[in-house]
Amino acid sequence: MEKTFHKLIIGNCMDMREIRDESVHLVVTSPPYFNSPFDYKGLFKNYDQYLGVLTKVAKELYRVIQSGRIVVLNIDDMLVDGRKFPIVADATRIFLEAGFRYRDRIIWKKPDGYLRISRRSGVILQNPYPMYFYPDNLLESIIIFQKGRFNYRSITKDIREQSKIDKKEFSDKKWYMTLWEMNNVMPGSPLEKDIAAFPEELPYRAVKLFSYKGETVLDPFAGSGTTMKIARELGRNSIGIEIKKSSVRIIKKKIGFGSNNNKYNTKDSFEIIFRMRGKYGYIR
Ligand SMILES: C[S@@+](CC[C@H](N)C(=O)[O-])C[C@H]1O[C@@H](n2cnc3c(N)ncnc32)[C@H](O)[C@@H]1O
Repeated sequence: MEKTFHKLIIGNCMDMREIRDESVHLVVTSPPYFNSPFDYKGLFKNYDQYLGVLTKVAKELYRVIQSGRIVVLNIDDMLVDGRKFPIVADATRIFLEAGFRYRDRIIWKKPDGYLRISRRSGVILQNPYPMYFYPDNLLESIIIFQKGRFNYRSITKDIREQSKIDKKEFSDKKWYMTLWEMNNVMPGSPLEKDIAAFPEELPYRAVKLFSYKGETVLDPFAGSGTTMKIARELGRNSIGIEIKKSSVRIIKKKIGFGSNNNKYNTKDSFEIIFRMRGKYGYIR
């Protein structure tokens, strides 16, 4: 097992000054969904401010990611106070304007019983007449962008073999379709409490499909550190950026630092950089 490196930056990802140009091989992330009533009520002043954040992040991602590489963005349209915001369409436009190519869109389908905020469809049960229909949403989008074209010859034969995708897993779990059926993280799970975490299966597929062993995976909206955890488990380095200082304890625990779990290389390194109001502090 090769040693891997993990870095958590506590700060705002609109500015990724600690990350060198073209030093990241894959981005897997899920930004806040505008003012999602459940998780981010009133976080942004208005929709333009939200789009402004995505614009700055897209520009920084274009700078730090290597040519030919992929950004996997889990995001979805959001209903706020009865108005639906077209976040997927706007994020796609923003990433195109930042210079990325739009490569694909995968739909993540949650289990049929998934319920979180309310059953909007219930309206029609009370009023079984036309015009009362509002569907329950079981879907999220996973949009995939690429910076230019990938040079397949840039990878050594050895690393290529070490990173080989298990064809059985690929077919049995139907990774090949534009519909990925994955369970959601249960609201109230101890480590992800109050964090709209995505299931490990999402970064697991993305890391396996779009990065090689020993490469660096970035999550600029690290949350509970799900992407970092999977990167470590799959022999990749990781960088996470998270604005909430309180996430440090959760992320450290989730990615297995401080535990004696023998599935990890004990020589792996973990570094935290606190960047608050322009000041820096390091913990190694
Ligand atoms: C949808 S959650 C990500 C959850 C993550 N995928 C996981 O599995 O735990 C979005 C995260 O982005 C963080 N965040 C919001 N704005 C940010 C910013 N400007 N810079 C860095 N982090 C930010 C939030 O605090 C939240 O933890």
